[in-house]
Amino acid sequence: MNKTKELTVLVYLFNMKEDKLLFVKRNTKPGVGMWLPPGGHVREKETPIQAAIREVYEETGQEFTVPEQHCLDERTFEIPLPDRIQVEDIDENHQHVDFIYVGKITHEKPIRCEKGKEVKWLSKEDINSVPTFDNVRDYAKQLLSVQPEIEELRTYLDATEYELLEKVYEKLCEYCHEASPTGHGLDHARRTFYNGLDIAIKENANLLVVGLSCLLHDVARDIQTNREHWIDGANVAEDLMKEAGIPEDVRNLVHQCILEHELYSFSKSQPITLSLESKIVQDADRLDAIGAIGIARCFMYSGSHGNELWDPKEKIEPFDPTDSSKSAIGHFQEKLLLLKDSMNTDYAKKLAWERHEFILRFLRQLRRESGIPGGGFW
Ligand SMILES: [Fe+2]
Ligand SMILES: [Fe+2]
Repeated sequence: MNKTKELTVLVYLFNMKEDKLLFVKRNTKPGVGMWLPPGGHVREKETPIQAAIREVYEETGQEFTVPEQHCLDERTFEIPLPDRIQVEDIDENHQHVDFIYVGKITHEKPIRCEKGKEVKWLSKEDINSVPTFDNVRDYAKQLLSVQPEIEELRTYLDATEYELLEKVYEKLCEYCHEASPTGHGLDHARRTFYNGLDIAIKENANLLVVGLSCLLHDVARDIQTNREHWIDGANVAEDLMKEAGIPEDVRNLVHQCILEHELYSFSKSQPITLSLESKIVQDADRLDAIGAIGIARCFMYSGSHGNELWDPKEKIEPFDPTDSSKSAIGHFQEKLLLLKDSMNTDYAKKLAWERHEFILRFLRQLRRESGIPGGGFW
């Protein structure tokens, strides 16, 4: 808390043609021998973005261009927002407040290195194999591909599990051959699957149960019946899993996870004890309802139900997952803004933080552009 703060920058620079990021092998503290994106200290007479442009050029010979500043009035300028701001412990006495920028080169120039350093364009695979900090590796991989390749999961799943998941995914694709107008289609199933396995690996949970439940949890979401979609979904999932040869004990666990995936701690439903796998499926599903993807899906859902963008007369009742009549902004207030605090696992709580912040930023901007006031949540 009381440590000296120094302003620094770090730039994740894309080479879009090759889907690579620029990294420098450091020969100075902190992180000697580590591969990190170019960056360094902000000098006294620089803004962070000016420091970012200079550091990239000095350390690598590459140039990236951003609009440096924008005039607000005769004495105030606005500079581009960093992608994130991190605080990093350097030693007992000082910390770096690190402005993280993401940019792309306009055209590739020959790489130039400072003495004793190495500079390389690294692919996602390269980044996996060089020494670097965990947060840098995770962030770089997120930037290079929206989701992990299924191939990457092979190292965590045994051959039989992998094969069974593939079979069920094929069955699911056959079953869900139409696009989902509500944002609950195959793409949602895939993202939930990757979220779920990511969490399950960290939590040492049963990967097959989590993977299958995530893929199948909303299989009946768009079917109109008088039952809840998790009841129909659990039944359809059972049939698809039988066809794919999933053993009965696994099917039963998946069935339970699907039945429980829409139990919210902030709803009227009774709290019950959930298995670790069930908690992870909930977390994985909820992560896809927040952040940029959550915003996109919220408006898809609202549009498909013919709902208003915002209804000032709307009363925000306690959450009811079966009610599809809320306006889009009403849905943020009654559900999306509550999801961060409803995450079960520590890892999902960590992932939810950034997505929740992004929603708040979006709502503030919406308010400034449209005057939609929202409620007491933001
Ligand atoms: Fe659902
Ligand atoms: Fe879902």
